[in-house]
Amino acid sequence: MTLPIPAETDWDKAPGLLDGAMNLDLSAEQCNLAYWFRGVAQGTLRDRAESGHTADEITPEHMRTDGPLRDAQILELGCRSIAEEEGTRALAYYVAHATGIAEMDFFATQLMDEARHSMVFRNHLVEMGIPADELRSTITKLSADYKREVLDPILEFALRAVREEGDFIGAVAIFTIIIEGVLAPAAELSERKWNLIDPAASAIARGAAIDEIRHLTVGSSIVKQHLDRNPTYRDRLMDIITRGRKLWDEIPDKKYIMEREHLFQEGMHQHAHLIGDYELFPGQRLLDTTAEERYATAERWTDKMAATRLAYMGLDEAIEILRLT
Ligand SMILES: [Fe+2]
Ligand SMILES: [Fe+2]
Repeated sequence: MTLPIPAETDWDKAPGLLDGAMNLDLSAEQCNLAYWFRGVAQGTLRDRAESGHTADEITPEHMRTDGPLRDAQILELGCRSIAEEEGTRALAYYVAHATGIAEMDFFATQLMDEARHSMVFRNHLVEMGIPADELRSTITKLSADYKREVLDPILEFALRAVREEGDFIGAVAIFTIIIEGVLAPAAELSERKWNLIDPAASAIARGAAIDEIRHLTVGSSIVKQHLDRNPTYRDRLMDIITRGRKLWDEIPDKKYIMEREHLFQEGMHQHAHLIGDYELFPGQRLLDTTAEERYATAERWTDKMAATRLAYMGLDEAIEILRLT
């Protein structure tokens, strides 16, 4: 008997990232290895295993031509590719220190997802004309400051919990609430922004978003289950969340996002004919937005998503601590 592809891993049926992360309830037990092989490897990735997009989802010539639009995408995908790579390396410790088999198997699949994201983000730069033999050096150079100032401190925070302190659940909370919780809205914004301008990149982003729904919901359910069974863990968790918030306030991530948003702004107006009346979200034309407004939108989405998911975990008192706007 052939089992169907679960709707949330089906390319055409899966919800958007924010919608899925706010409304779905998935556990590590549900999202086991068989689920991943069937739903992701044979579902989400059908016809998209090599590059993250189909042959029909093209990289248009304007993405291969020098200018601010191409520079914005190179910066965005270069930095995100390194973020996924560093995430993959960190997740190896989650696999090593997972407290149960369901959790170990789930993090093995998440590790594979993030390694794939890094690969498809990186390889799109080759599709945009960066010579393959210069890819590594190009990415290393453009992401060096971002890695040092943003990625290293947050991943160090996660690794300290899982590796040094032996607190697997705390480390899951850091990855789910602090790291991916804040990166997810930026990812949603990216998918919507590039939709008409760079169909290959938009498909790559859509595939990553489908995976991200699973990472956010399963991570939350692992934390929730633990908290339900061990109510005394709450104090430790609140301490982690408070320290995570403090860390975010010290990290200059906005500087890096704004640099690419300003480039995108310039490039978007040069290619206004491609975008037309396309709406970033209902009632808001992309062409009418500014870099600052798009950043503010992502922050509002972060808050909304965090509030829903923290309430699901029974952590209502953390909502105010994490609020960005
Ligand atoms: Fe990812
Ligand atoms: Fe993820």
